[in-house]
Amino acid sequence: MQHVTDERMTPAAVGSHHLVVVANRLPIQRVEGRWETSPGGLARAMLGVLRSRHGAWIGWSGDVEEVGDAEVPFDVSGATARRLELDDIEMISVPLTADDFQHYYESVSNGALWPLFHDAIRESTFDADSWAVYEAVNRRFAEAAAAAAAPSATVWVHDYHLLLVPAMLRAMRPDVIIGFFLHIPFPPQELFMRMPWRESILDGLLGADVIGFQRSVGADNFVGLAKRLRAAEPDEHGVRTNGESLGDGRHVRVGTFPISIDVDEVERIARAPETIARAREIRSRMGDPETIFLGVDRLDYTKGIDLRLQSFATLLDERAAGRVQDSSSRRPIVLVQVAVPGREGVDSYVEERRIVEQLVGDVNGGHASIGYPVVHYLRRSLALDELVALYMAADIMLVTPRRDGMNLVAKEFVASRIDDTGVLILSEFAGAADELTQAVLVNPHDPDAIVAAMHSAMAMSAPAAAHRMREMRRYVTGHTVDDWARSFLAALGEVSGSRNADDTDHHDANDAAPDAVDPAPAAAAGLVVADRG
Ligand code: G6P
Repeated sequence: MQHVTDERMTPAAVGSHHLVVVANRLPIQRVEGRWETSPGGLARAMLGVLRSRHGAWIGWSGDVEEVGDAEVPFDVSGATARRLELDDIEMISVPLTADDFQHYYESVSNGALWPLFHDAIRESTFDADSWAVYEAVNRRFAEAAAAAAAPSATVWVHDYHLLLVPAMLRAMRPDVIIGFFLHIPFPPQELFMRMPWRESILDGLLGADVIGFQRSVGADNFVGLAKRLRAAEPDEHGVRTNGESLGDGRHVRVGTFPISIDVDEVERIARAPETIARAREIRSRMGDPETIFLGVDRLDYTKGIDLRLQSFATLLDERAAGRVQDSSSRRPIVLVQVAVPGREGVDSYVEERRIVEQLVGDVNGGHASIGYPVVHYLRRSLALDELVALYMAADIMLVTPRRDGMNLVAKEFVASRIDDTGVLILSEFAGAADELTQAVLVNPHDPDAIVAAMHSAMAMSAPAAAHRMREMRRYVTGHTVDDWARSFLAALGEVSGSRNADDTDHHDANDAAPDAVDPAPAAAAGLVVADRG
């Protein structure tokens, strides 16, 4: 059911939602004139929880608006509004003008934060005017959250676009429980120290009650910086704040919550006869190659697509020169590379596309024969069922980012290999390497190591590959995106429980009870949650 409300948001008014997700993007798309929830793993995990808690999702619709454009983006049957109810979840749009988009999204989020947080693989650009817009946009998100949240509600803020929201929201609504999860890596201290806005970012995050990271190294980096720059006092579970702006002596839990995928959905698709048939068709249309390597990434310089292509070229050169034993087969080996475009207003992304496409041309120019390219390059996004068919058609998955918060493609590949075949080559610099330890782990910065990993994956015996895949599948099946969401919400529930116990005078029990998340300790629920260290 689609329900449109044209009431405008009133900042600082108390809302009615017991669980509010705040993320840069709304999980919606327009299909044949109707709004639908979009299919990403995060959305799927959160939508179920939101539905059961009369939840709201606050985010940007993806459309850039003209200044003063009051009532877009939701246009449903002639009506326009900022709020849209989809499947019992309220979608609340935060509008972005072209200027906001340029400064908040392109310049600060993707021109300064993204590269620095990914090991400074590209130089960050720091622009003070853009930072002012980043602050203003963060404030709008915080105001929208403050207006939507019921008394003592839980608000879960996501990712690097919104680093300032926790403290802003706390100032507006001290009654709400605030969680923040960073989907990308949190950098080492010496890199973070380059950030001109480093204190503001730490203060912003320290406004949360629980801060979650993908890997324990990120949590440790954060705690070290909070101590160094904000005199926060670390303890076993996080830090205690120290300083007027942060609210003296407040405890902030800092933990590791590795995100995952919707395993049931991937397995369901993998078991479907159409997917199995499609996987066979893909192989045969490529000439039934000896080995299919596969890469699936956003077209982003962090993903190491260029390094992978160079190593693949080396592998082909070696085979052509007869320097490897397995070159006796006349059947070709191929690489399928799916590259999903995005952020094309940022120069480094334009440059990355140029580099990747030149390499694709070079490798095909040197090794393809008529009708048989060796690199199949698809620059587009694919539906999950086509992706799963590709995962199943491949022999060896190449996930070789220079740095990655988690990398869900690695987990999707594993979940789709229901017959325990296939080999995963995985970068040590992806968060997934902490969990998928049975992958062929590789340092992507070492070209020889990638080539060696390709050889060892090709030479791996079927029983050895099956053993590794079974172990990884067991892990992924036991750690789904639902488990991840539950564990983070359970950590927030513990905060809510202890706050209620400490401060019964401030809270009417009726306020806290209906929206409080399960206060059972996350660990007791058997979920992935680890405090720092
Ligand atoms: C990464 C970020 C997400 C982001 C996604 C797509 O996974 O962690 O927050 O939504 O990339 O990037 P985009 O810039 O298109 O939203």
